[in-house]
Amino acid sequence: MDKNAQDLHRSLLENNKSWSAQMREENPELFTELAKHQNPFFLWIGCSDSRVPPNQITGTMPGDMFIHRNIANMVVHTDMNLLSVVDYGVNALGIDHIIICGHYGCGGVKAAMGDEFNGYAANWVRNIRDVIRLHEQELNAIANEEERFDRLVELNVAEQVYDLSRTSLLREAWNAGRKIKVHGWVYGLHNGLIKDLGVTRDQYELEQGSVSVG
Ligand code: CO
Repeated sequence: MDKNAQDLHRSLLENNKSWSAQMREENPELFTELAKHQNPFFLWIGCSDSRVPPNQITGTMPGDMFIHRNIANMVVHTDMNLLSVVDYGVNALGIDHIIICGHYGCGGVKAAMGDEFNGYAANWVRNIRDVIRLHEQELNAIANEEERFDRLVELNVAEQVYDLSRTSLLREAWNAGRKIKVHGWVYGLHNGLIKDLGVTRDQYELEQGSVSVG
């Protein structure tokens, strides 16, 4: 795509027309059914990165996933946007599987490894610097910078899974007997594959210090 073209956005509208036509041809009832209600099975919390489109990389369709995205797939306890999505997803839509998916090569995570900087995003990245502090010993022991970066991406996902599991929203849901699972995944930009970190949480459990990732 020519990024400077004045009518660049028009190609999206053209694409949309042909996509809609193709979808209706494959499944004539799809849009009439989707217009009535949504009944997604998954709640996805992912990075805003343009290279990690949730539906495409998981082979899911419109209606399958309730989605929240922000820089570096963070769970910040004062984020009303995230909490509202989780509340609606869990309590109104009845979703039991929450997936927090990070990705290798994440710019937000990379920024947290570097020097302090100015601007709005610096405050957001502050939360990732806290993850570095929690795992300082393990991270400092990794000499290779790329490996340290990859590991921080994984540790960050594990900490966000933990932080989500410590919200009052999930505590209440688990206390009410809901079988909710929070999964931690990492997507590889280099091969398009998702790795399950094995850090799934299904209860309101307190950790002492940093969380462990196999
Ligand atoms: Co990212």
